Amino acid sequence: MRSHLWWQTGIIYQIYPRSFKDSNGDGVGDLPGIIEQLDYVAWLGVNAIWISPVYPSPMADFGYDVSDYTDIHPLFGTLADMDRLIDSAHRKGLKVILDFVPNHTSDQHPWFQAARSSRDNKKRDWYLWRDAKPDGSPPNNWLSAFGGPAWTWDQASGQYYYHAFLKEQPDLNWRNREVREAAYAAMRFWLDRGVDGFRVDVLWHLIKDAAFRDNPANPDYVPGQNPYESLTHAYSTDQPEVHEIVLEMRALLDQYSERVLIGEVYLPVGRLVAYYGPKEDGAHLPFNFQLITLPWNARQIGAAISDYEGALPASAWPNWVLGNHDQPRIASRVGLAQARVAAILLLTLRGTPTMYYGDELGMRDGAIPPAQYQDPQGINIGLSRDPQRTPMQWSEQPGSGFSNGEPWLPLGLDYQRCNVKAERDDPNSMLTLYRRLVELRQRESALSIGSYAPLITDGDVLAYVRQSDDSRFLVVLNFGPRSLFVTLGELGGGTVVLATDRAREGESVQDRLPIMGDEGLLIRLERVP
Ligand code: GLC
Repeated sequence: MRSHLWWQTGIIYQIYPRSFKDSNGDGVGDLPGIIEQLDYVAWLGVNAIWISPVYPSPMADFGYDVSDYTDIHPLFGTLADMDRLIDSAHRKGLKVILDFVPNHTSDQHPWFQAARSSRDNKKRDWYLWRDAKPDGSPPNNWLSAFGGPAWTWDQASGQYYYHAFLKEQPDLNWRNREVREAAYAAMRFWLDRGVDGFRVDVLWHLIKDAAFRDNPANPDYVPGQNPYESLTHAYSTDQPEVHEIVLEMRALLDQYSERVLIGEVYLPVGRLVAYYGPKEDGAHLPFNFQLITLPWNARQIGAAISDYEGALPASAWPNWVLGNHDQPRIASRVGLAQARVAAILLLTLRGTPTMYYGDELGMRDGAIPPAQYQDPQGINIGLSRDPQRTPMQWSEQPGSGFSNGEPWLPLGLDYQRCNVKAERDDPNSMLTLYRRLVELRQRESALSIGSYAPLITDGDVLAYVRQSDDSRFLVVLNFGPRSLFVTLGELGGGTVVLATDRAREGESVQDRLPIMGDEGLLIRLERVP
């Protein structure tokens, strides 16, 4: 019997569908494009793809404003294309995870159209409506993550409705049983079609305070940051009753075989781990974003790993993320040399890694002038996410092999050097590093399911041991530019099996291990206690 499930031993690869591969020349990636590139994904060695939303949508927030939960936007293809995608992915041994966006719909969704049509419409209570204060102002001080108040006045029906994001993304009322049943029906629709799980969008937002109390001011707010952060979100997010819903979603998935429930949850570790559920009957993988949110240094990352390991419920499975469609790319955040160190970190930590498309090439944030911003967050508050959503760089050809048309976002400036074709056979490329790491992780149970034990080191170096019954690896990562020595002590000797600088591979390692600036080493230890 297998001791671990696919989503525990596996590696997840996030595809932002608009930007992966355009099959019809309209400049926007699509499902047939993803199908064309499944061989690449399989060659990379990962186990599952998570596809950002492909449902019908007016695209106010590029698909995170859904107007029909059980169909495919014609820009991306058809339901038949999705069936074909699921089938061909499965035949290549790849699982398919869909993005599910239950917190809000598009304002064009028939549910909202009905709800706003009149105060006594049967669907009125599916959304969050409140009267104005006596002076006409919104019912409370809650802010939208994309700028301005979270309440929009509906002239026709004379009430405000709540939206945590754009006014085109009204929040559903998850205290309403019919809303839950409608959302669960949509989940079943996809599970019945063979989808292997969901990444649930803003899971910690689903329930709001029943009394809609004002959010307190954030004492740590630094002016100039996203104005949304000027308040804490004590009453608009992470309410105790949200966990009921997480359990219901999990129970639904458990009616199927080996499906995975992933939750997008940006919370401190102590509150994040509650999303595993009181009996680990909640989300399988509440996303752990610490490698994205923390400053890039060995001390803080090391402490965060230990805190997280310590906070995890008994048999909860950890996970790690380096980037996604909402965050600056790792290669831009820490530089290309450290991005190689980060790759080793992501793929040797204990827990399921999620990779973001293009990070395996070392793709950097695109240079997009404000006048060309597409992302509403960029247009409204200047924090554009377009740079991390530029087209996948397949080749040095015009369009970079992404599209024969005009790409919806400009290509990265480095696409002629940084692309799949150029990097595939280059032994020192980022792609080769990723591919070798993936392969090693898949082959060595110490890396995929082994234990984690940190080592005390000097300088800006993070070191840890991963161990299973019959093998043991030491990972040494230098987050800084200064070279130094790491003492192996009772770990004994070993051999470098993978390194950011391949010249070091094969080196036999003794007690005093020299490590260069920006270097990462993976050492197979001789002794396995
Ligand atoms: C999530 C998505 C983000 C989207 C937001 C609103 O954070 O990852 O892209 O804009 O939810 O749906």
